[in-house]
Amino acid sequence: MAKLCFHPYGEEVHKALFPRGLAPAFLGSSCKPAIGASVIVMEFLPLPTVDQPGWHTLHYFDTIHPELVHEKKDAIWEQLAAILSTLKELHLVHGDLRSNNLMIHVTQDAIVVPIQLKAIDMEWGGKVGVACYPADRNDVVGFPGKAAHVIGSTDDEVMVKSWWGTLRRN
Ligand SMILES: Nc1ncnc2c1ncn2[C@@H]1O[C@H](COP(=O)(O)OP(=O)(O)OP(=O)(O)O)[C@@H](O)[C@H]1O
Ligand SMILES: [Mg+2]
Repeated sequence: MAKLCFHPYGEEVHKALFPRGLAPAFLGSSCKPAIGASVIVMEFLPLPTVDQPGWHTLHYFDTIHPELVHEKKDAIWEQLAAILSTLKELHLVHGDLRSNNLMIHVTQDAIVVPIQLKAIDMEWGGKVGVACYPADRNDVVGFPGKAAHVIGSTDDEVMVKSWWGTLRRN
């Protein structure tokens, strides 16, 4: 799949997470000054079908099957923790680790075991101290840092913890 990016893409973040199974394969990128954007090419994560598992955003799957997400919360957290610790170890930040930027491996009515979670949308990501939030982001989201400022080294963890508790609890 190809993603058009109007902000320097966090290629380093994508390339760090992919070999660990924590992002779709990074297949290439091309800067297109004529359209003021870059094209990022990555592995396509297909939707599940009647007879094949596939991928949904964690946000969407939690909306349609909250009880299944609840049941696997600990294992999902392990994958999230792997994403966070990989980024921390390499001094990288993603910057937008909301549940709609995480894909989970599922069938139409179950979560595939072992749990697989992949981060997408690395548009803002990069090295700590260099990567910045865009000036024109949607502030309703409640990002941990200020628009147009650097993404703090603990912002990803703060963001994840801010929505983690809102996933269904029985
Ligand atoms: N590699 C992929 N394979 C399949 N679907 C993908 C892939 N990457 C992204 N998507 C789908 O496209 C949607 C938007 O992708 P992405 O988050 O990268 O773009 P975006 O411009 O930030 O859009 P949004 O504002 O919806 O987050 C994702 O929520 C997901 O459903
Ligand atoms: Mg997104």
